[in-house]
Amino acid sequence: MVHRAIPEIDFEEIDVRTTFLGHALRAPLLITGMTGGFPDAAKINENLARAAADVGVAMGVGSERAAVVKGQYPESYACVARYPVPLKLANIGAPQLIPQNPGDPVVGPEEVRRAMELIHADVLAIHLNFLQEMVQPEGDRRAKGCLDRIGTLAHKFPVLVKETGAGLSRAVAEALRDRGVRAFDVSGTGGTSFAAVEYYRAVDRGADREARVGKTFWDWGIPSPISVLEVAPLGLPVVASGGIRSGLDAARAIALGASAAGTAGGVLRAAATSYEETRRELETIVHELKVAMFLTGAKTVAELQKVPYVIGGESRPWIRR
Ligand SMILES: Cc1cc2nc3c(=O)[nH]c(=O)nc-3n(C[C@H](O)[C@H](O)[C@H](O)COP(=O)(O)O)c2cc1C
Repeated sequence: MVHRAIPEIDFEEIDVRTTFLGHALRAPLLITGMTGGFPDAAKINENLARAAADVGVAMGVGSERAAVVKGQYPESYACVARYPVPLKLANIGAPQLIPQNPGDPVVGPEEVRRAMELIHADVLAIHLNFLQEMVQPEGDRRAKGCLDRIGTLAHKFPVLVKETGAGLSRAVAEALRDRGVRAFDVSGTGGTSFAAVEYYRAVDRGADREARVGKTFWDWGIPSPISVLEVAPLGLPVVASGGIRSGLDAARAIALGASAAGTAGGVLRAAATSYEETRRELETIVHELKVAMFLTGAKTVAELQKVPYVIGGESRPWIRR
């Protein structure tokens, strides 16, 4: 971002409020879905929800498959419903929308309705994680028909589609937009790598081939900034995530055209510690975002989206392409 030596605004007047899919946020931030479905997850989700409500930012839960398909630990998600988080996202994986084996239960409108009710969700996040599935020994390998299943749900519920660390291209985003999807969370490379996470699990289980695939595809995907540049021109709200670890990262993402920035790995440790730590981390990110806005002379999120920037490093060849 280009430094503006004379900002010609007061720090105090910087206003980071925004709306995302019709919901008013006190800052353009989203805690992207992480957890649920086991006993310890309740505390993490509760810390996240309480802090998100107090700071006024959006929050998603992790995949709700455990609760809505297997009936496991619904309370580890439902605790989120008790907090006035301004925008809550339910979460289901795209591989669960199609039968992976003959006779397998699939997630349909009824399961989605339950997933949304469980946390009083405003929006359904459908996650794409086919890279992760390929590094899991028992991973789901069927993806045919996914787009149309997402389309069916998108006509019944407000749907945001998110990746989980490998990024969205324009072609995929266009296909989803044409099926009624309302928003995207790019979740590109640069942050949590599920190929890496699953590599370690595969090693532990002695799954040699999957471990090898995890290593080979460790960095696979579209870098988060490039994914924002690919998807934002479609005109739908875009969350930039994948490697957002500070308010400066969030500012850069918004300058590139995102409506909000999302983080998972950036708040996980705090959330596993306490509500206070989680709140402090979120407030620090918001403060850093305001510092970046001050130093670029942007008074509002809309102005931040127009500040000048320079792109270098590994992103350049992607842009040339
Ligand atoms: C521990 C952990 C669990 C996650 N579980 C889910 C999940 O259940 N559903 C989902 O959509 N994304 C899940 N994600 C992916 C994140 O929402 C996010 O897309 C990805 O981690 C990239 O962001 P980051 O670099 O800030 O971590 C998880 C991430 C982490 C770190």
